Amino acid sequence: MRAGELRDAFSSFWAERGHEVRASASLIPHESSLLFTVAGMVPFMPYFLGSEVPPTRRMVTIQKCVRAGGKHNDLDDIGRTNRHFTFFEMMGNFSFGDYFKAEAIPWAWEFVTDVLGLERDKLWVTVHVSDDEAAEIWQTKVGVPAERIQRLDKDNWWAAGDVGPCGPCSEIFYDIGPDHGPDGGPAHGGEDRFVEIWNLVFMQFAADGTGEMTPLDAPGIDTGAGLERILAVLQGVPAAWDIDLFAPLLAEAERICSKTYGTDPETDVSMRIFADHARTTAMLISDGVFPSNEDRGYVLRRIIRRAVRHAWVLGVDEVVMPRLVDIVVDVMGDHYTDLIANRQFIADVVAREEERFRTTLATGQKILDEATAGLEGADAANPESASPESANTEAADTVLDGEVAFLLHDTHGFPVEVTEEILTERGLSLDRDGFEAAMERQRERARAGRSGGPTFADERYREILAQFGPTQFVRDTPAVSPARVLAVFEIAQDDEHDGDDDLVEVFLDRTPFYAESGGQIGDVGTISGTDGSIEVLDCTYALADLHRHIGRVHGEGIEAGSLVSAEIDDGRRAAIRRNHTGTHILHWALREVLGDHVKQAGSLVAPDRLRFDFSHYEGVDRAQLREIERVANAEIITNGRCRHYETSMNHAQAIGAIAFFGDKYGDVVRVLEAGEHSTELCGGTHVAALGDIGHLRIVSESSIGSNMRRIEAVTGLATVERLADAEDTLDSLAEMLNAQPDEIASAVQRRLDETKELRRQVRDLQRTMASSRAAELAATAEDGVVVADLGDLERDALRDLAASVRDHGGIRAVVLASAPAAGGVALVAAVDPAGDLSAGDLLRDAARTVGGGFGAKGDPPLVVAGGRNPDGIGDALAQARVAALGA
Ligand code: ALA
Repeated sequence: MRAGELRDAFSSFWAERGHEVRASASLIPHESSLLFTVAGMVPFMPYFLGSEVPPTRRMVTIQKCVRAGGKHNDLDDIGRTNRHFTFFEMMGNFSFGDYFKAEAIPWAWEFVTDVLGLERDKLWVTVHVSDDEAAEIWQTKVGVPAERIQRLDKDNWWAAGDVGPCGPCSEIFYDIGPDHGPDGGPAHGGEDRFVEIWNLVFMQFAADGTGEMTPLDAPGIDTGAGLERILAVLQGVPAAWDIDLFAPLLAEAERICSKTYGTDPETDVSMRIFADHARTTAMLISDGVFPSNEDRGYVLRRIIRRAVRHAWVLGVDEVVMPRLVDIVVDVMGDHYTDLIANRQFIADVVAREEERFRTTLATGQKILDEATAGLEGADAANPESASPESANTEAADTVLDGEVAFLLHDTHGFPVEVTEEILTERGLSLDRDGFEAAMERQRERARAGRSGGPTFADERYREILAQFGPTQFVRDTPAVSPARVLAVFEIAQDDEHDGDDDLVEVFLDRTPFYAESGGQIGDVGTISGTDGSIEVLDCTYALADLHRHIGRVHGEGIEAGSLVSAEIDDGRRAAIRRNHTGTHILHWALREVLGDHVKQAGSLVAPDRLRFDFSHYEGVDRAQLREIERVANAEIITNGRCRHYETSMNHAQAIGAIAFFGDKYGDVVRVLEAGEHSTELCGGTHVAALGDIGHLRIVSESSIGSNMRRIEAVTGLATVERLADAEDTLDSLAEMLNAQPDEIASAVQRRLDETKELRRQVRDLQRTMASSRAAELAATAEDGVVVADLGDLERDALRDLAASVRDHGGIRAVVLASAPAAGGVALVAAVDPAGDLSAGDLLRDAARTVGGGFGAKGDPPLVVAGGRNPDGIGDALAQARVAALGA
């Protein structure tokens, strides 16, 4: 059976048993406590926990999984074991509060034995030490002999993370034979021999992260059957690397290494790393992860870099990752079709990352060369003499300072393992303790930079929330609302609010003030009481759902318990609304023009501008920016309606709302449908129809880190003002040029041509003047030597003049000096190449006298020197004269 057939067989088997077949979810989980989708159950966590109602109680999936960071991390084992991968496909059937052990166990057995045809007497099962029920079902209902049912503790307990659903599990193992390790079943035998092919998790508890577990209302089934491992068993190969999915990748790896797979254990590891990491890289990029220095982007970067490092260590100079990911697309694209659509894009991203990292490797190598130049490398053929334990005095000279390795790692991204590899090759070693100490110091600095635990203020905020509940945000009614004051606190003076001694923070039961979040800045306005008021300067969240109005006291201020009127600056809010909905339209237009890989990475929505950060692998050029603007404005002038409403997360997903992965959304979310095309989750404030945005204009585009771009734009009246300013500038330019505004470009071009022509004429004139001067100077020669001060002649003209004086008959040497208007001193010496004087010798002392020097190579017949001190020109020429004629 090949991969495609196994996927089909699995899905059909469970579909026949009432399971809805679902496509794989993204590798980027909605569940923000996880870095990647690590198992088939990850997209279904809320169904197991009962926090969301599943659309159906039985589902089957073949889920893309990545285990490369966090609790489930196989990164370090790759290539060294027979069946660990950073990317793999997990087949699973799921029951959400529907069937349980009594059905799941016999069905699993039926699939494994009847559909896959695995011999019953080669199968073993394990159950949790506490799970008599499962053991009983295996033995009596299924008929597995008691001696092949083993009980384990931790190994038969499964959880996706510290928080979330978990429970005891039961696994099926296949014995691939005595050649592959000791006997004794999975509990005692070797894991290369007893291959885990099926894991049935009986989801029964919810873990809260502190070790506490609450029983679930409706226990369910979560299955994980590793596609690659099952294929290895079916295809009769001891290592999962030998299945059909890896063959074309390993063949390419062989071409890259120029070696045959299976001939050298260390090269095999590299080849498997190429195959594994290429799969993970292609799948992650296709799902929208970019190499970066944070979170999942960082894991991806490490994965790519690790593969490249292996290529580099093997001496492979050409770029390898684009070749490998291309094959991943060939192999996996028929099932994961978005790979095909993203083929070029994936190749571009990895090519850039690999090229960049190869430069890093080259720079690092150079720094390392310099740092090790002073060390006495031991004989590389005798590496033992390089060990730090060897004779003390010599050892110090063969050990590289840990600080250097830290600098390479920290500043240049040069991995410490590579440093060590290179040192070993040279018979040197690394002061690893010094390196670790430098790393620890950096970690401490980072820790010190983070803020401490909860403060006194947090306690007060929590009390308000406990007593009065969340602030009610008056979203849809006019800009003014009656409210009751819950608390007023003085803000202690600090650096941030220097000089404002009567700043306060005010808490209300309800408010029209938007608290800064999701990139949109807080509202300003006024809270008015009977005897005084607060001028609100900002509004933020003190705690989730607790609006904090920060403001300045006027008059008597306001008191807790009193009734007030809270009013926002409506004009400012209207401008914010235009920019916020404008941000959504810009996001949509960016995806239209640049592609779906564009994902929001951050934003700022202010009254005067909007800023949008997004993932993209290169600069956006002028033509693309104009196109993005055009697409956005064409959408805006359709004046499409904006609908902003609350709905369930399920519904939002079903209508394809774009959510920002990594953001935490509750079950009830707000969706903004801005016109026909843009649908996003968003809690901000928005216009009623697209036309309200006015004209959107991109003001700048820049890089904010690798693969991250930033666009700033304006909308509404800000665009009008900008355009008016630009037009004013054009008008005044036109006036200066005495042209019509639409003729400015040609008028400027004319002026530029004219300037160029004038410059040429000046040069020619200078030359003509110089040549007549050359004759005059030649006539002043004393014994064939001309020495003269030429005032403020430019350096180039001085050089030309010296050359033409020398070319007059009978001249042996010319030394000229000037103090050009631009500053400094120019000295030129020119000699008859057939004579016996040296231009360099003539200038040596003279140059020093004017505070300068020259760097002529060899002994050219014409040397130009510079200097700083024009007062020395007289003396310098006297010295040159002596050098030419003698005292
Ligand atoms: N979620 C279980 C696993 O990953 C089935 O093994």
